[in-house]
Amino acid sequence: MIINKPALITPSILSANFAKLGEEIKQVTNAGADWIHIDVMDNHYVPNLTIGPMICKTVRAITTTPLDVHLMVENVDSLIPEFAKSGADIITFHPETSKHIDRTISLIKESKCKAGIALNPTTGLHYLDYVMDKIDVILIMSVNPGFGGQTFLPISISKIIEARRKIDIWENNTKTKKSIILQVDGGVNVNNISKIRSAGANAFVSGSAIFESINYKETIDTMRTEITKSDNLK
Ligand code: DX5
Ligand code: ZN
Repeated sequence: MIINKPALITPSILSANFAKLGEEIKQVTNAGADWIHIDVMDNHYVPNLTIGPMICKTVRAITTTPLDVHLMVENVDSLIPEFAKSGADIITFHPETSKHIDRTISLIKESKCKAGIALNPTTGLHYLDYVMDKIDVILIMSVNPGFGGQTFLPISISKIIEARRKIDIWENNTKTKKSIILQVDGGVNVNNISKIRSAGANAFVSGSAIFESINYKETIDTMRTEITKSDNLK
């Protein structure tokens, strides 16, 4: 598959050291992060409890890097305006958490954010069928949502390929100028990123692989080298 789209590295702060979050954000943006991925979990939709709008606002105050908010919460609509006010640039939600997917997307857009749809490993791509014209990001979960540090599920590769095909067909058919970003989240590391790239992804969430490494810049640079290597194989 030929991917001539720039690759975005979007580190997830879920694996950062929260005792020095400001420093971590600075380090990872200096290391070349394209977006900061913020994992919001509510202990209902997923069995973990993480970040609220307050932290998002704090992060917004110290960086101009786009904030990529991944909502893993029930009653998603009630939190969208709050995260938008707190500085989110991209808001991604899981279709299972919305009663009216189209309304939720509109709410994100009205809040002046880019809208993303996240698909769990067993959630079908059919959720995208009638919303391609409205969304900016498709996020393929390559682990079950809830925790950082899990292992990439190999079955995700065929789903990424299928999602890329869907995007390419839609973009060609509609001759749109919009380019939907295909983001992959869960277990992404320097060893598997080239395979994920060649399947068609152009944004890569990575938490533990970056924040548990000794040198964030070296890790992000290696990820980019792996992506370039994979692109050059085409
Ligand atoms: C999982 C989260 C991911 C996770 C990524 O529910 O959405 O963003 O933090 O972390 P790693 O890269 O460690 O799998
Ligand atoms: Zn995430």
